[in-house]
Amino acid sequence: MPNTPDLPIYVTDALIAEDIDAYLAQHQQKSLLRFITCGSVDDGKSTLIGRLLYDSKMIFEDQLAALEADSKRVGTQGQEIDFALLVDGLAAEREQGITIDVAYRFFTTEKRKFIVADTPGHEQYTRNMVTGASTADLAVILIDARKGVLTQTRRHSFLAHLIGIKHIVLAVNKMDLVGYDKTVFERILLSYRAFASEIGITHFTAIPISGFKGDNITALSDNMPWFKGPALIEHLEGVEVAAQRDVSSNFRLPVQWVNRPNLDFRGFSGQVAGGSVKPGDAVRVLPSGKTTTIDRIVTLDGDLDEAVAGQSVTLTLSDEVDCSRGDVIAAADAPPEAADQFEATLVWMADEAMIAGRAYWLKLATQTVSATIQQPKYEINVNTLDHLAAKTLELNGIGVVELSTDKPIVFEGYADNRTLGGFILIDKLTNATVAAGMLHFSLRRAQNVHWQASDISRDMRANLKNQRPALLWFTGLSGSGKSTIANLVEKKLHRMNRHSFLLDGDNVRHGLNRDLGFTEADRIENIRRVGEVAKLMTDAGLIVITAFISPFRVERDMVRSMLPEGEFIEVFIDTPLAEAERRDVKGLYKKARAGQLKNFTGIDSPYEAPETPEIRIDTTAMSPEEAADLIVDRLLG
Ligand code: ADX
Repeated sequence: MPNTPDLPIYVTDALIAEDIDAYLAQHQQKSLLRFITCGSVDDGKSTLIGRLLYDSKMIFEDQLAALEADSKRVGTQGQEIDFALLVDGLAAEREQGITIDVAYRFFTTEKRKFIVADTPGHEQYTRNMVTGASTADLAVILIDARKGVLTQTRRHSFLAHLIGIKHIVLAVNKMDLVGYDKTVFERILLSYRAFASEIGITHFTAIPISGFKGDNITALSDNMPWFKGPALIEHLEGVEVAAQRDVSSNFRLPVQWVNRPNLDFRGFSGQVAGGSVKPGDAVRVLPSGKTTTIDRIVTLDGDLDEAVAGQSVTLTLSDEVDCSRGDVIAAADAPPEAADQFEATLVWMADEAMIAGRAYWLKLATQTVSATIQQPKYEINVNTLDHLAAKTLELNGIGVVELSTDKPIVFEGYADNRTLGGFILIDKLTNATVAAGMLHFSLRRAQNVHWQASDISRDMRANLKNQRPALLWFTGLSGSGKSTIANLVEKKLHRMNRHSFLLDGDNVRHGLNRDLGFTEADRIENIRRVGEVAKLMTDAGLIVITAFISPFRVERDMVRSMLPEGEFIEVFIDTPLAEAERRDVKGLYKKARAGQLKNFTGIDSPYEAPETPEIRIDTTAMSPEEAADLIVDRLLG
């Protein structure tokens, strides 16, 4: 019995009379359906939610508290909760919380527990809807019977389908206002069906209702004898939840943490993200691909004979194979893929637009890696579903992109497994979630390009030159003195028989990076390429010096992470803007101030100074010669 908490258990009143303990136990084990309601206030969304809460007569504590406060205000203490009051309360709450998040409401019937995500329906709240939908098994798409299928109906349906919601309910509301007319309902049904099949929704359940009057909510209504059911709640009670569905797929467990209380026990904990597993089953640990078998399935309530999708367990393995947080334990004969380049759909959720080429944290199941997005292949207009050319994605923008990760991740297509195919992107500086994404597939070019091992190593190359490779990464405003000091440093190194190479911004922009300008995206690409070139040169055993403004912290850190620990030396040429502008060696500040030069660093384009550079040079306090001496001392000392 403890193995199947997600299967619906039907409680009868007879059971309550017979055995109250058994009743309570079963009540606790009722399955949970998470669903989302899509529509606007005009469609009667608050009324419908109010109706569901009201009719189920099970209003949870937070709502009760709010309602009590309300009823005190109108002086109806001690009375039964009034339906209209409930709906007003919900609408007011919704309005206050509108931009913050998603309101989750709880209710329960005899057969099942429910969490309904209530999100505003307007286009500017697309990100809220996506958040609410991401954990939902079912979506109720509300239509006002007087208005029929609208642009927003299409948008909501598209988003619900995009997020992978398998159960769509078309609730044609306000039937009382169209005289409970069957033909109105059928006309709407017909036009919705045509649209739904266009976007790939093959199956949906349409129910004519009146949230206000309560028709076809808990029971079939006498006002619409032509409708044979099911009533809305009846349908919600019967729908299969995700965990039940996932049980039939292949076994996967993303490892959340390694449980090692003592030397005799080593268990791998996490939530089963698909299929089921038994002791003795052959499994494969990914991405390494090592195979072994399951020894035990451990839980706080004792060992299990089987674990199924949705359960949190600790697995022990028969062999001492390497396995750590982020790895995935999977059915040995049907493992998921590991890859580092993908096509994916992104929903942009941040006020700042997406930046192609920038590295973000990508979190997928228990894995976190660094990921870079290429320019979108196209953006999707959520109202017309047209594909548009785009350079970036703005807040609420949805597009198809290619992205690459700094190491392989174990994944499945989102359509096959929401846990292993869904991800979020996080800004590395602010830690804010900036996008939600769904992986489609890995790119074949990633599978067919392998790392070619060569016999001469980077150490061997450096040893031949009698030196340790390093990258002196100069950063600072234009005209701060980077090139001048870098040039002196190289001259000194050369005199000391060190093999070096100086990469300078202005020079590289004449050749390799001739195609790049000074937009944020171009500067990021500039630094990415220079970083890759500098890394190759350190692999060749050289001491590399780079002199680029490199205004963004995230990209400097990205280059740092590409090199072995200690090899990246950030040199901040710290010249205040006023001083650089006063010197104005190339006359560019004057042009920028006159508006003849756009996106000039320090004027109308930002510079993010290093917080903890290895070396900081205050050019107002020392000469270029002194600075160069100091840098060489620090490098070789
Ligand atoms: S970075 O921002 O992408 O790192 P980079 O160091 O390659 O810049 O190039 C900076 C040099 O390009 C400056 O020293 C200056 O001579 C020139 N330049 C031309 N336009 C700009 C601009 N809008 N902003 C900054 N530098 C510019």
